[in-house]
Amino acid sequence: MTLARLALIVLLAALSSPGFAAGTPEDTARQWCANCHNADGNSVSPLFPRLAGQQAGYLTQQLQALKNRSRSDQSAHDYMWGIAATLDDAAIAGIADYFSRQKPLPNPAPVDSQLAARGNVLFHEGNEAKGTPACLACHGPSGEGSENGPRLAGQHAPYLAKQLHVFETTQRPSAVAMQAIVKTLDEKDIQSLAAYIQSLH
Ligand code: HEC
Ligand code: HEC
Repeated sequence: MTLARLALIVLLAALSSPGFAAGTPEDTARQWCANCHNADGNSVSPLFPRLAGQQAGYLTQQLQALKNRSRSDQSAHDYMWGIAATLDDAAIAGIADYFSRQKPLPNPAPVDSQLAARGNVLFHEGNEAKGTPACLACHGPSGEGSENGPRLAGQHAPYLAKQLHVFETTQRPSAVAMQAIVKTLDEKDIQSLAAYIQSLH
């Protein structure tokens, strides 16, 4: 999408939220969130994270953190603060439920197979020498998520790598476990994990 179109969407989001808020949460998701995340949550651009099949509890928690501005990385600030601020608790719960029920599709973006193979080992086994835990312990054996961590499978690799770098800061304060884990990862680990996780379905 062009920058002009993106700017227009952000502007419309800021100006017209009462109109959207009048519809059902599903209307809001399909008419508004869809501009960036796709109506079924399977976003195409790696700028915008995929939401399809994500746990409703995680979506709710993140939307609340974006609304109260505790999730404060640059993209969260630029794209999501204004949008989340217009959603009340019922809208957040309804939209989270809607995206959690959408079918996650395989991510067709190409990945470097050598990096992904390395990421596969790290994801499943961790690295004892460096103190990296196996990601599957909390994110599930196929990255599908568990009660201890959100779904990651099929997420865009650039978004995954970007968030792992955000965890090097305190800009996502709820992510205490991840802040400790990223300290054990170097840049190659991050790129390997992002490539592998994107290829999971
Ligand atoms: C103008 C584009 C745009 C629109 C419209 C938009 N988003 Fe986002 N959204 C983003 C971007 C960019 C991010 C990534 C923020 C970051 O990197 O921290 C994001 C992140 C999120 C996240 C966090 C995902 C995760 O895996 O942690 C949720 C949840 C979310 N958006 C929900 C919504 C909902 C619900 C709507 C509609 C009410 C919406 N978004 C509308 C651009 C958008
Ligand atoms: C002890 C449990 C645990 C382990 C082990 C774990 N994670 Fe996480 N992870 C979480 C939780 C909880 C969150 C949600 C953080 C938040 O509240 O912002 C998360 C979030 C993430 C996110 C951000 C997802 C998004 O949509 O923004 C990424 C990426 C991630 N983890 C990658 C990994 C990788 C890679 C590993 C293995 C090296 C790993 N995690 C190991 C618990 C864990």
